[in-house]
Amino acid sequence: MSREELLGLAREAALRAHCPYSHFRVGAALIAGGKLYRGVNIEISSYGLTLCAERSALAAAISASAGPITQVAVACIDTPTEAPLAARTPCGACRQWLADLAPNATIYIDGAAQNFTIADLLPYAFGL
Ligand code: THU
Repeated sequence: MSREELLGLAREAALRAHCPYSHFRVGAALIAGGKLYRGVNIEISSYGLTLCAERSALAAAISASAGPITQVAVACIDTPTEAPLAARTPCGACRQWLADLAPNATIYIDGAAQNFTIADLLPYAFGL
Protein backbone atom coordinates (compact mmCIF):
# COMPACT_ATOMS: atom_id res chain seq x y z
CA MET A 1 0.00 0.00 0.00
CA SER A 2 1.26 3.50 -0.70
CA ARG A 3 2.46 5.83 2.04
CA GLU A 4 -0.35 8.30 1.32
CA GLU A 5 -3.04 5.61 1.36
CA LEU A 6 -1.86 4.24 4.71
CA LEU A 7 -1.58 7.72 6.20
CA GLY A 8 -5.13 8.40 5.02
CA LEU A 9 -6.32 5.27 6.83
CA ALA A 10 -4.48 6.38 9.99
CA ARG A 11 -6.16 9.79 9.82
CA GLU A 12 -9.53 8.13 9.36
CA ALA A 13 -8.88 5.84 12.35
CA ALA A 14 -7.99 8.87 14.49
CA LEU A 15 -11.57 10.09 14.11
CA ARG A 16 -12.50 7.16 16.38
CA ALA A 17 -9.96 8.01 19.11
CA HIS A 18 -11.27 7.77 22.66
CA CYS A 19 -9.56 10.74 24.29
CA PRO A 20 -12.05 12.54 26.56
CA TYR A 21 -9.23 13.99 28.71
CA SER A 22 -6.59 15.23 26.27
CA HIS A 23 -8.83 15.67 23.20
CA PHE A 24 -5.67 14.78 21.24
CA ARG A 25 -6.73 12.28 18.59
CA VAL A 26 -4.21 9.79 17.25
CA GLY A 27 -4.71 7.01 14.73
CA ALA A 28 -2.35 4.29 13.56
CA ALA A 29 -2.66 2.02 10.55
CA LEU A 30 -0.28 -0.81 9.78
CA ILE A 31 0.20 -3.54 7.23
CA ALA A 32 1.11 -6.99 8.58
CA GLY A 33 1.20 -10.07 6.37
CA GLY A 34 -0.48 -7.97 3.69
CA LYS A 35 -3.47 -7.13 5.92
CA LEU A 36 -4.56 -3.85 7.44
CA TYR A 37 -4.82 -3.27 11.18
CA ARG A 38 -5.73 -0.02 12.88
CA GLY A 39 -5.66 1.47 16.34
CA VAL A 40 -6.57 4.63 18.20
CA ASN A 41 -5.51 6.15 21.49
CA ILE A 42 -7.73 5.08 24.36
CA GLU A 43 -7.82 7.15 27.54
CA ILE A 44 -9.43 6.11 30.79
CA SER A 45 -10.05 7.87 34.07
CA SER A 46 -6.71 6.68 35.45
CA TYR A 47 -4.70 8.75 32.98
CA GLY A 48 -1.46 6.81 33.28
CA LEU A 49 -3.15 3.71 31.91
CA THR A 50 -3.81 5.36 28.56
CA LEU A 51 -3.11 3.22 25.51
CA CYS A 52 -1.51 4.96 22.54
CA ALA A 53 -2.74 4.44 19.00
CA GLU A 54 0.46 2.72 17.90
CA ARG A 55 0.31 0.11 20.65
CA SER A 56 -3.40 -0.32 20.02
CA ALA A 57 -2.72 -1.16 16.35
CA LEU A 58 0.23 -3.41 17.20
CA ALA A 59 -1.91 -5.29 19.73
CA ALA A 60 -4.63 -5.79 17.09
CA ALA A 61 -2.10 -7.25 14.65
CA ILE A 62 -0.44 -9.52 17.20
CA SER A 63 -3.83 -10.66 18.53
CA ALA A 64 -4.75 -11.74 15.01
CA SER A 65 -1.47 -13.67 14.58
CA ALA A 66 -0.70 -11.39 11.69
CA GLY A 67 2.39 -11.79 9.55
CA PRO A 68 5.43 -9.53 9.64
CA ILE A 69 4.69 -5.84 10.00
CA THR A 70 6.03 -4.01 6.97
CA GLN A 71 4.50 -0.52 7.17
CA VAL A 72 3.21 1.62 10.04
CA ALA A 73 1.49 4.99 9.67
CA VAL A 74 0.73 7.38 12.53
CA ALA A 75 -1.51 10.43 12.40
CA CYS A 76 -1.93 13.00 15.18
CA ILE A 77 -4.82 14.85 13.63
CA ASP A 78 -5.01 17.59 16.28
CA THR A 79 -1.39 18.67 15.88
CA PRO A 80 -1.28 22.08 14.19
CA THR A 81 0.47 22.10 10.81
CA GLU A 82 3.19 24.44 12.07
CA ALA A 83 3.98 22.35 15.19
CA PRO A 84 7.41 20.71 15.42
CA LEU A 85 7.99 17.08 14.51
CA ALA A 86 8.01 16.10 18.20
CA ALA A 87 4.27 16.80 18.33
CA ARG A 88 3.57 14.01 15.85
CA THR A 89 6.14 11.25 16.43
CA PRO A 90 5.56 8.11 18.59
CA CYS A 91 6.20 8.29 22.34
CA GLY A 92 9.04 6.34 23.94
CA ALA A 93 6.89 3.39 24.99
CA CYS A 94 5.51 3.00 21.47
CA ARG A 95 9.03 3.16 20.03
CA GLN A 96 10.03 0.20 22.19
CA TRP A 97 6.91 -1.72 21.08
CA LEU A 98 7.79 -0.94 17.47
CA ALA A 99 11.39 -2.05 18.03
CA ASP A 100 10.21 -5.39 19.43
CA LEU A 101 7.21 -6.08 17.19
CA ALA A 102 7.85 -4.21 13.93
CA PRO A 103 11.65 -4.05 13.65
CA ASN A 104 11.67 -4.02 9.85
CA ALA A 105 8.75 -1.70 9.23
CA THR A 106 8.85 1.54 7.31
CA ILE A 107 7.25 4.19 9.52
CA TYR A 108 5.20 7.04 8.08
CA ILE A 109 4.41 10.05 10.26
CA ASP A 110 1.63 12.33 9.08
CA GLY A 111 3.08 15.79 8.49
CA ALA A 112 6.71 14.63 8.27
CA ALA A 113 8.30 14.65 4.85
CA GLN A 114 10.67 11.73 5.38
CA ASN A 115 10.01 8.06 6.20
CA PHE A 116 11.58 6.49 9.29
CA THR A 117 12.93 3.16 10.47
CA ILE A 118 12.75 2.22 14.13
CA ALA A 119 16.53 2.65 14.29
CA ASP A 120 15.98 6.33 13.34
CA LEU A 121 13.44 6.76 16.13
CA LEU A 122 15.04 4.56 18.80
CA PRO A 123 18.78 4.10 18.34
CA TYR A 124 20.45 1.54 20.62
CA ALA A 125 17.06 0.07 21.49
CA PHE A 126 16.80 -2.43 24.33
CA GLY A 127 16.14 -5.99 23.20
CA LEU A 128 16.31 -9.54 24.50
N1 THU B 1 -0.55 9.39 22.12
C1 THU B 1 -0.57 8.38 21.20
O1 THU B 1 -1.63 7.78 20.95
N2 THU B 1 0.60 8.04 20.60
C2 THU B 1 1.80 8.62 20.86
O2 THU B 1 2.82 8.15 20.41
C3 THU B 1 1.85 9.83 21.68
C4 THU B 1 0.65 10.11 22.49
C5 THU B 1 -1.80 9.75 22.79
C6 THU B 1 -1.81 9.40 24.25
C7 THU B 1 -2.83 10.39 24.78
O3 THU B 1 -4.11 9.81 24.62
C8 THU B 1 -2.72 11.58 23.86
O4 THU B 1 -2.00 11.13 22.71
C9 THU B 1 -2.00 12.77 24.46
O5 THU B 1 -0.76 12.41 24.96
